Amino acid sequence: MKALVTGGAGFIGSHLVDSLVEKGMDVVVVDDLSMGKVSNINNIDIVTLYIQDVRNQTFMQSLLQRERFDYIYFLAAVASVADSIEHPNETHSINHNAVLDTLEFIRAINLPLKQFLFTSSAAVYGNLPELPKKEDSRVDPLSPYAIDKYATERYVLAYGQLYNLPTVCVRFFNVYGPGQNPSSPYSGVLSILTDCLKNNRIFTLYGDGSQTRDFIYIEDVIQALLLITEKHVKNQVLNIANGLELSLSQIIETYENIVGDKLTINNETVRSGDVKRSVASIGQLISLGYSTHWPLKRGLAQYWKGEQ
Ligand code: UD1
Repeated sequence: MKALVTGGAGFIGSHLVDSLVEKGMDVVVVDDLSMGKVSNINNIDIVTLYIQDVRNQTFMQSLLQRERFDYIYFLAAVASVADSIEHPNETHSINHNAVLDTLEFIRAINLPLKQFLFTSSAAVYGNLPELPKKEDSRVDPLSPYAIDKYATERYVLAYGQLYNLPTVCVRFFNVYGPGQNPSSPYSGVLSILTDCLKNNRIFTLYGDGSQTRDFIYIEDVIQALLLITEKHVKNQVLNIANGLELSLSQIIETYENIVGDKLTINNETVRSGDVKRSVASIGQLISLGYSTHWPLKRGLAQYWKGEQ
């Protein structure tokens, strides 16, 4: 079986690549290394890596034509909401057009795919009050990033229905784990917390810490993605999360206890556009046989251990 992972050198993509290789798949990665790193891929000796932009249709079309993939995991994206606000049109060309161009070519050559999986985000839900977020809850995409993710989801599902392609979309909540880059203020808060604890840096806390999130450890994300593939899920959108709502203060306290150290905290006002509360309903994932293997304490302990 052959799989293509776009964005396969990134944080989530590289973990997926390693797991697919372990499952015995032939894995090809397309990544322009704008955010990803070759060193993220553990099995680089048996993975084919093309350092290419997914917008390069000449390249993508010849690759799809030649390799006849069974599975395509589309993770390549501008992953930062802040970047999407700075460069909406550029974001759109990657996060939306590149996905559509790929689907359109798959349709044109009648590629007998087993699954096309598109990775979306909890950002589509915006700041609406209803909780937990169900896949059919109202959406309110507030940034170019979220708008593109939602619009692309709809296209991916429409291609499934209109042209009989086995397509599926997932919405990641707050994913954490090794390989996540802490370098920007908009990096995942757990990568920033890890960096602060490790290097004795001051942590800037936006707001009073009562904002809540649904954190999922990368290994559980991979478990979910593999289940979605194994169960041939199609025509569906699925939340990928832990299903547990925790405040940032609770998370910080748990992490400090694991590390045995206290953070130095600098308090700032709430970040503009910050979501106050977030938690997913993960009923759909559970019905596939998913269960959390990495509750927060275990995930954080493992993450911290890997950083030593
Ligand atoms: C995440 C996404 C974001 C998306 C949003 C939609 C990431 C990194 N961000 O944001 O792109 O729009 O989901 O649901 O995946 N915080 C601090 N100090 C810091 C960094 C963050 O206090 O140095 C706070 C933030 O203000 C926020 C919380 O920690 O309240 C979590 O931040 P973050 O990890 O960026 O995730 P989201 O805000 O959920």
